Amino acid sequence: MDYQILKIQIADRIATVTISRPAALNALNTNFFKELNHFLDDLEPRDDVKALVITGEGKAFVAGADIAEMVHMNAEEGYAFSTFGQRTFDRLEQLAIPVIAAVNGYALGGGCELAMACDFRIASKLAKFGQPEMNLGMIPGYAATQRLSRITGLGNALYLILTADTISADDALRIGLVQKVTEPEQLMEEVMKLAAKMAGNGSQAVPRSKRIIRNGIAMDFKEASELEAVEFGKQFSDEATKEGMKAFLEKRKPAW
Ligand code: CAA
Repeated sequence: MDYQILKIQIADRIATVTISRPAALNALNTNFFKELNHFLDDLEPRDDVKALVITGEGKAFVAGADIAEMVHMNAEEGYAFSTFGQRTFDRLEQLAIPVIAAVNGYALGGGCELAMACDFRIASKLAKFGQPEMNLGMIPGYAATQRLSRITGLGNALYLILTADTISADDALRIGLVQKVTEPEQLMEEVMKLAAKMAGNGSQAVPRSKRIIRNGIAMDFKEASELEAVEFGKQFSDEATKEGMKAFLEKRKPAW
């Protein structure tokens, strides 16, 4: 596919997707979702890529869904626009590998929703977060009504969506919406360090943990703990797990 919006780079087992529509502050339109789905089609079967980073070009991560596209929609088209976005973000969330949002600037509306579909959010001090849909007389459409409360708690989700307030990176850190705040010029270095740490684990423990945590949240505690025990057992058939333990006992690095 000839990508018009996504810039894709793969190096050292880490894929980096840069959303590049800076004139519209990287607003998410239908073409963006087509391109992201195409990229995911290519990425899912690959086993040489161990982490994915998503960032934005210019002063925004993503300033929301594309208002210029939405303004012409009827109810049926609005529903289709929402479900297409939701399905794509679900796919991103369900990727076997860890996904990091490197939030370089505005992460508003659909941009905050994209960041929340990633596993971690590392933010530049310049980043701003919010669900300002209320200012447009609308509600979020890419699952902020569900993910925001799961990540930050009910009170913070109600506050951000019902007031449309935009918050700083430090406030986002305080409510658990981001995991770390960096100086703007250090953002990508910090994110790449984190991605490399996970990509360098040669066992199945990273994807296995992600799968159990992601799937377990939709189960009751007992069922989810059983899933953990089953997966814990399975890893004793993995050479890489045996090697990890042997290496510890022999006081050396695992030979992965
Ligand atoms: N959709 C379409 N275009 C957008 C956009 C969006 N979400 N956000 C910004 N742009 C465009 C602007 O229209 C402008 O285009 P022109 O130069 O052609 O006029 C360009 O990007 C630059 O934007 P500004 O001039 O507004 O830049 P600024 O620095 O003054 O302000 C901002 C930055 C505060 C982020 C402001 O652009 C803004 O408020 N954007 C909209 C944020 C928003 O409401 N997001 C939610 C969208 S709805 C949604 O996301 C629903 C959903 O959940 C599915």
